[in-house]
Amino acid sequence: MNLPNVIGIKNIGSLLTISANDNCVKTLQDMNNLSIINDAIMLFDVSIQWIGTSAEFENVSSQFSVTEWIDAKGKVVMPGFVDSHTHTVFAGNRSNEFAQRLQGVSYQQIAASGGGILTTVNGVRTASQEQIVTNAYSLLQSAISFGTTTMEIKSGYGLSFDAEMKLLYSIREVASISPMNIVSTFMGAHDFPEEYKHNHSGYVSLVCEEMIPAVSEQHLATFCDVFTDKGYYTLEETETILSKGLEYGLLPKMHADELATVHATELACEIGAFSADHLLHVSQKGVEALSQSKRTVATLLPGTAYTLRLPYAPARTLIDNGAMVALATDCNPGSCFTENMQTILSFACMNMKMSIEESIVASTLHGAKALGLERSKGSLEIGKDADFLVLQTTNYADIVYHFGTNLVEQTWIGGKKHFQKQLQ
Ligand code: NIG
Ligand code: FE
Repeated sequence: MNLPNVIGIKNIGSLLTISANDNCVKTLQDMNNLSIINDAIMLFDVSIQWIGTSAEFENVSSQFSVTEWIDAKGKVVMPGFVDSHTHTVFAGNRSNEFAQRLQGVSYQQIAASGGGILTTVNGVRTASQEQIVTNAYSLLQSAISFGTTTMEIKSGYGLSFDAEMKLLYSIREVASISPMNIVSTFMGAHDFPEEYKHNHSGYVSLVCEEMIPAVSEQHLATFCDVFTDKGYYTLEETETILSKGLEYGLLPKMHADELATVHATELACEIGAFSADHLLHVSQKGVEALSQSKRTVATLLPGTAYTLRLPYAPARTLIDNGAMVALATDCNPGSCFTENMQTILSFACMNMKMSIEESIVASTLHGAKALGLERSKGSLEIGKDADFLVLQTTNYADIVYHFGTNLVEQTWIGGKKHFQKQLQ
């Protein structure tokens, strides 16, 4: 009889499985339950083959051929982070704008004077694909070292046919060289480029008639995202773009109510977007719509509120009303320059009153749900991908409590170890 060849991890002090109900989502009642197995063993190849306690393993050990044992020495094992909202393909550095904001200049004032997103657009248009890929690759390596195993990446700093394609090709190229699981999103509607400043409908037509068909034909993205906000895209423009995207097989996502209450969240729920993101200025109706929705995840990006010194999204109200809340970095050169999900968990607990457990569920399983990957990612269950972390602690609370350090000792993606911390 041929036994399956597997790797085993033993002496896991606490295995945070995060396993959930049939909908693969933690409901209000169980978001504080990490479904922990103590004194656990986990067997895996590219996917997870067996999970249980050491005592239970004695009964099944003869069914597996374990080729290698790893000793977790009582430490915590948990699913890798799913960072479901980033803008990791870009060029240039906006630390000068950051410094201006520290002096009191607002994000909108910088944008109105031609800076902000358009600064990075200029950088991308003049950069080569190779430069963009090199920049993104180093951010991905860093993110892996901080425990991210799946990352969504948006285009959106090109804002012309050629430059948007260059960004999407960069995402495809970086996905082929990095072990990170990457999900690509087309976000041609991130801003209006200078040349269409007085012709918004012309740019919406370019996005709908030229960019979306090309993105779809070349299979360059899974999702289509729009920045629906005051000074950016209107509800009508958003609907036009996302409907066209759907026609071409691109699934909807939205940057919703970040800078002002424009009722973008209600639209996201109405059209069945996979997520409504930011929500710093979500209305009461928007909260209700998210609470009713079985599809639209409320993706909160507290690093952006921190960086822009804006009020945080109402995480407590959303969770207490039953919305599915996810956490992500929003990694981008303007409003939040971090690729470290552990920092985001700290912001979520300290500034949005989330519990440590809620922050862990939101950054794993619910991130996967926001990407439609909840059947294969975000929790540790038999058959799911072997994307997991060994933490450098026996107490999972340390991931938030011991802030400003890297608590990840090992990062495994698809059953292979891609990061090992050098311990002193
Ligand atoms: O998600 N909100 C829109 N886009 C980014 C910011 C982009 C930038 O400032 O470069 C965000 O915060
Ligand atoms: Fe964003």
